[in-house]
Amino acid sequence: MEKKEFAFSYEVYDSSEELSPEDAELLYMARAVTSNAYAPYSHFRVGAAAKLSNGQFVTGTNQENASYPAGICAERVLLSTASSLYPGIAVETLAISYLNEQGSSSQPISPCGICRQSLQELEQRTSRHIRLLLGGQTGKIFIIPKADLLLPFAFTSEELQ
Ligand code: THU
Repeated sequence: MEKKEFAFSYEVYDSSEELSPEDAELLYMARAVTSNAYAPYSHFRVGAAAKLSNGQFVTGTNQENASYPAGICAERVLLSTASSLYPGIAVETLAISYLNEQGSSSQPISPCGICRQSLQELEQRTSRHIRLLLGGQTGKIFIIPKADLLLPFAFTSEELQ
């Protein structure tokens, strides 16, 4: 028998003032775009903004539906947009922010399980890691160096071979 361990490091910042100007700008975009969310059912508005390796920026917001499972998260809206507009181009940094029903948010949220799966596959397709910048409208900010750290033991296309 052999025991193995999984651990990873991430950065914690007290506020956006501690970020580089480029990261602060991306987080600002994610915070601002939450107002484009269509979330009449959960009242939980999520905004995502990414810088791509070709220098372009894309955003995404959650889009819900009266048939609840038809709704889609901000992160996957963003990834689909990026991949449709710029096929094969890597996502360098993806910022995620949100607003809750009370119209506030003071701690980071991280992508749901399905979004982690989609992030992992885009990393694999583009052979580049996606850096995650997670923060509410205020409060601490987490920077996770690679999205796939959030999905250990991922099921990947290699398993289909
Ligand atoms: N949601 C996202 O857009 N991203 C996440 O990372 C977590 C959840 C959305 C889905 C749904 O519209 C609402 O937030 C509540 O779950």
